[in-house]
Amino acid sequence: MKRTLLTLLALVCLLPAAADEGMWLPSLIASRIDDMRAKGFRLTAEDIYSINRASMKDAVVLFDGGCTGELVSDQGLLLTNHHCGYDAIQRHSTVEHDYLTHGFWARSRAEELPNKDLNVRFLVRMEEVTDRIAAGETPEQIIARAEAEGAGYKATVEQMYYGDQQFLFLYEQFDDVRLVAAPPSSIGKFGGDTDNWIWPRHTGDFSIFRIYASKENKPAAYSPDNVPYRPRKHFTISTRGFREGDFTMIYGFPGNTQEYILSDAVDYIALQSDPAKIAIRDGRLEIISRAQESDPALRIHYAAKHASIANAWKKWQGEVLGLTRMKTADTKRAREEQFCRENPRGKELLQQMKAEYQRIMTPYFAREITAETLLALPVKYTDEERAEAVFQARRETERALFGWLFGEYARRCPVQYQVPEFLDGVAESGTPEAFAERVFDEVWNGGKTPLADSLRSGTRRMIGHITWLLGTKRLRNLTSKHLNTLYRDYVHELRHTWPDQPFYPDANLTLRVAYGSIAGYEYADGEYHKPQTTLDGIIAKDNPAIYDYDIPQALRDLWASKDYGRWGVKIDGRRTVPVCFLASNHTTGGNSGSPVLNARGELIGINFDRTWRSTMSDIAFDPSICRNIAVDIRYVLFVIDRIGKADYLIREMTIK
Ligand code: ARG
Ligand code: GLU
Repeated sequence: MKRTLLTLLALVCLLPAAADEGMWLPSLIASRIDDMRAKGFRLTAEDIYSINRASMKDAVVLFDGGCTGELVSDQGLLLTNHHCGYDAIQRHSTVEHDYLTHGFWARSRAEELPNKDLNVRFLVRMEEVTDRIAAGETPEQIIARAEAEGAGYKATVEQMYYGDQQFLFLYEQFDDVRLVAAPPSSIGKFGGDTDNWIWPRHTGDFSIFRIYASKENKPAAYSPDNVPYRPRKHFTISTRGFREGDFTMIYGFPGNTQEYILSDAVDYIALQSDPAKIAIRDGRLEIISRAQESDPALRIHYAAKHASIANAWKKWQGEVLGLTRMKTADTKRAREEQFCRENPRGKELLQQMKAEYQRIMTPYFAREITAETLLALPVKYTDEERAEAVFQARRETERALFGWLFGEYARRCPVQYQVPEFLDGVAESGTPEAFAERVFDEVWNGGKTPLADSLRSGTRRMIGHITWLLGTKRLRNLTSKHLNTLYRDYVHELRHTWPDQPFYPDANLTLRVAYGSIAGYEYADGEYHKPQTTLDGIIAKDNPAIYDYDIPQALRDLWASKDYGRWGVKIDGRRTVPVCFLASNHTTGGNSGSPVLNARGELIGINFDRTWRSTMSDIAFDPSICRNIAVDIRYVLFVIDRIGKADYLIREMTIK
């Protein structure tokens, strides 16, 4: 019985969108609303997106150009992740006021901290403009016309389905966004890189900001005269809890997925690109970790660098595991064959696409390797860096990084795309490592750097050449201008060949709705992962000797006294505080900070991660394993109240 069910599930995942897969356009959500309601949603399409009245979209923002945030009070109070607010928190941190380490709690509006270069965007409306563009209007004209509608309005025209459809997105941007609160990193980043992409998880990954506006409630540059923004809508918070199977919805800005790529591209990712990038980063991380272990000053200096290198490195490993386990390339190949049989244009189209892949794969790979090696090295060390106490201690680590990355470039970059200046340098010096020494000495010592300069301009020329070969500057994914056009036709044909199957456009940092349910999963044979973690799990991981697991004493004391107040709940028979939970919503990078909502549209958590083996969902969503990770809103409130002692913030929220 279980077996047939699993086989059935496996079959169902061959379809483009089934189960909880999908990132849906809010303005077209009416087409999904029956399915959503069948799965437990209680509200209407108009509640999610409306241009006539306040709707949920008015409480969701694109935060800092790459994360999501949500409004939780009528005074512009906004929640996002700690790792999304990290830059802002770090910039306000000094040795005397180390908010990153100890947390920050503004005690009044006057103490809220302004942030240069931090903005949020609300979606005013979106509309399809495919016909207008076909009729001769240019995207630039459409954008200019839309932006003329109001102060602070920013418009973009975005392609859906590789340009088969074009949409105008009109945003209202606010530039006065102030830091209100952040937990100490030992809560907001609890588990660090060790637990990153991992379940069971116990990270209190949240931070709090406030949007300020002019007295007329309009966007305005920072001014002490600005007042808290009054949003059209803010989320009600539910502290009533949930059970496995309950409906969940995520509203946010997913960044980049490639759900319709051919088997050729899946093979490229799983067999060629990811493994090479992982191996290059293995070496980088080893060098940096060694330095961090040798010297506390270096541990701090390299912390952010380590975190950002390790984040994608771990994600790619999960992606390879997932794609391999699910045999995604084989599944795609079978679908391509079926498509050829059912669609008369199919065969020709696919042949052209596969030929184009053959043409571009090697130069694109060279581009990726170059980015991971030569372009990942500093071209100079600034005077500021040189003045830091830690600078001299970095020397051997930096030298080792030059040596490793020059070596990897020489070994992995297809030789016809290696920079001539690099090849010359290696020939002269004997080995890539010996050449690296010479370039490093130049760069480290400062002053004139003729070798490094010529290498840099050679690299720039080579990247320009590859960009020209691909015909596009948009190099996020393996693609070319020609391939993009072929994909437009291919996905168009797919949608008409199989009209009964639900399709959704790939993520492109535009606002989307994902829905699913609270769900654990079978991690391994006989090992089920429950969807909820608790404070008891934090205490179990607590270890003052391990940096990533060293919690604040206040949290230990709270646990010992069980003084949880209104945030304590009974889970599995014991009184505790819920911390994180798993759900089956389809999310990706950019969904960090997104509101996780229940069937009534009430806030139950803040999304911040996926389990690493489910990161394959950027390419293929497997409902049996793909899970997003959220911090439970009850833990967020508990920390605000009991650690931050900032109950005045809680009072301005709407809590049920
Ligand atoms: N994996 C999450 C994301 O992709 C969280 C990253 C930040 N956390 C960290 N430990 N590096 O952004
Ligand atoms: N942590 C990711 C972000 O910053 C979200 C996790 C994911 O990739 O799903 O956007």
